[in-house]
Amino acid sequence: KAELKTVSEGKLVMSTNAEFPPYEYHDADGIVGIDVDICTAIAEKLGLELEIEDIAFDAIIPEVVSGKADIGAAGMTVTEDRKKNVDFSDTYAKATQVIILKEDSTVTGPDDLKGKVIGVQQGTTGDIYVTDDFGEDSVERYAKGMEAVQALSQSKVDAVIIDGETAKQYLKQVEGLKILDESYTDEEYAIAVQKGNTAMVEAINGALAELKAEGKLDEIVAKYIKA
Ligand code: ARG
Repeated sequence: KAELKTVSEGKLVMSTNAEFPPYEYHDADGIVGIDVDICTAIAEKLGLELEIEDIAFDAIIPEVVSGKADIGAAGMTVTEDRKKNVDFSDTYAKATQVIILKEDSTVTGPDDLKGKVIGVQQGTTGDIYVTDDFGEDSVERYAKGMEAVQALSQSKVDAVIIDGETAKQYLKQVEGLKILDESYTDEEYAIAVQKGNTAMVEAINGALAELKAEGKLDEIVAKYIKA
């Protein structure tokens, strides 16, 4: 088996934004989460050591494009636009964008959001789709998702649109908020790789398939998402 070429010998450098529980976040042990465990397991299978770079979400794709990182793993949704700049591995999780509201909000679905101010994390699909659907004046962008949720709690915005599992985690920490049952979009997460690096995509897909077959993927998810 030919050696897999990486940015730094013996390492698999992963760019992420560790403000996104349960996929990547800081705890007493450092940066943990589903993506961290999955990528640690992938690196292990490839005989590499995982190295994590915690940066702004909208800096992840540029780092992968410029070759500073081997992979971008950040609960990152596969989109046609992003595919113009990076290649993606097979998807490893299904996700949604959900609408977070104050408990007493009368909004019942996406249609009611017209004319409202919506908080998002900068550069995420939430940001992109809200801007497309409701216009620039309706978006309030925050560096971290949690900051958008805090702004909602302080009534500085009318709603937050963010990934469903992350929304659930944030709401454990902030009172008086609810998540609408009707989701805003359905999405899928994958690992981003430099365009044209088929050796890396194939290596990751092979490792992912093994982890899936071994039941390891489900095990990791179950560790962070309690049914
Ligand atoms: N799934 C969304 C996207 O791809 C949000 C991901 C945010 N991830 C993060 N680690 N902050 O745009």
